[in-house]
Amino acid sequence: MGMFKNMLNSGESLFRNEVALDFNFVPKLLPYREKQQHYIANCIKPLFQERNGKNLLIHGSPGIGKTAAIKWIFRDLEEETDEIIAIYINCWQRNTTYKILVEICSQLGYKFTQNKKSDELLRIITNMLNKKQGVVFAFDEIDKAEDYDFLYSILEEIYKKTILLITNYKIWLNDLDERIRSRMTPEMLEFQQYNKNETEGILKKRAGYALVPDVFEEDAFRLIADKTFQLKDIRSGLYMMKEAAQAAEDASSKKIKMEHANAALQKLNDFSIQNSDSLDDDIKPILDIIKEKAEIKIGDLYKLYAKKGGNMPYRTFARRIKKLENSKFVILDKVIGGSEGNTTIIKYNNATKKLTDF
Ligand SMILES: Nc1ncnc2c1ncn2[C@@H]1O[C@H](COP(=O)(O)OP(=O)(O)O)[C@@H](O)[C@H]1O
Ligand SMILES: [Mg+2]
Repeated sequence: MGMFKNMLNSGESLFRNEVALDFNFVPKLLPYREKQQHYIANCIKPLFQERNGKNLLIHGSPGIGKTAAIKWIFRDLEEETDEIIAIYINCWQRNTTYKILVEICSQLGYKFTQNKKSDELLRIITNMLNKKQGVVFAFDEIDKAEDYDFLYSILEEIYKKTILLITNYKIWLNDLDERIRSRMTPEMLEFQQYNKNETEGILKKRAGYALVPDVFEEDAFRLIADKTFQLKDIRSGLYMMKEAAQAAEDASSKKIKMEHANAALQKLNDFSIQNSDSLDDDIKPILDIIKEKAEIKIGDLYKLYAKKGGNMPYRTFARRIKKLENSKFVILDKVIGGSEGNTTIIKYNNATKKLTDF
């Protein structure tokens, strides 16, 4: 017996507020994003003066604080006034006009959405919102929406508004219906990747919220910060810090040491490898071709796939590629108006490989 003898008792946990390492935790301060936050706030400002707001397309690679910045501003806005309504929608989770309208109703506290069609829902929404001084809409991951009728409707029906669209791909705008684009006339705001100092600063602050003070040994923290900078995605750092703290706690260590940071790194590797193991059998051979070619046009990939005996119809195939993108196995790059017209170039996402050769 004595199995629990060496375990830290609960008063000795290394975590002080574990949720502060969650991906959707919005910290009190968002360092290095002050400029972008001011820019966004300025687009909303006219609503306070009962004028129409400005629209904005926010773009930049994954894991660099786009969503966090929006949520931060929305929290501030909600504390400031009840007259300007903030509506945040993630278009990956709600990817059609109908689902988006139902979600807006729900955020407005309107419950009787069952058996109502899109145009009825729209009427209810416009009635409620046009009584207010203004509305700020944020459509996050806008490129994941399957149709954009809701955008058109909002542009036409809501009087005073700011529409924020957030995407990892600036080029997405080129695909947008001219009818909508000419009404949106969005300004553009780029989020740049964090440099090494910034990455470190962010992780240090998050560790400060989440863990007991000074629990990281210097080299262990450095390993995690360097790896995060290499992957350019703050999420990977939050994940590793949590795993390292957990590993230290499991070993009843009062400090997070190199071995615990290494275990966390390993876990991040296993995580991505496991992911590709869990892919459906019909996707794996497609991913193998992409990996071998490093980058390939979608049409060429389909031909190769068919030549190897693949028999998915093209539309299904294209959807599968989208799925690979969503789970970050590949990166899609749209090329507009090349020699063969518009096409999509698929690139193997090397982040997975980099994880193993660190
Ligand atoms: N400047 C920052 N300060 C603190 N945390 C940050 C900062 N930038 C990003 N994060 C955190 O990194 C994670 C990923 O950021 P997120 O906003 O979701 O990325 P994006 O929307 O750009 O993909 C979130 O947990 C977020 O809170
Ligand atoms: Mg985001």
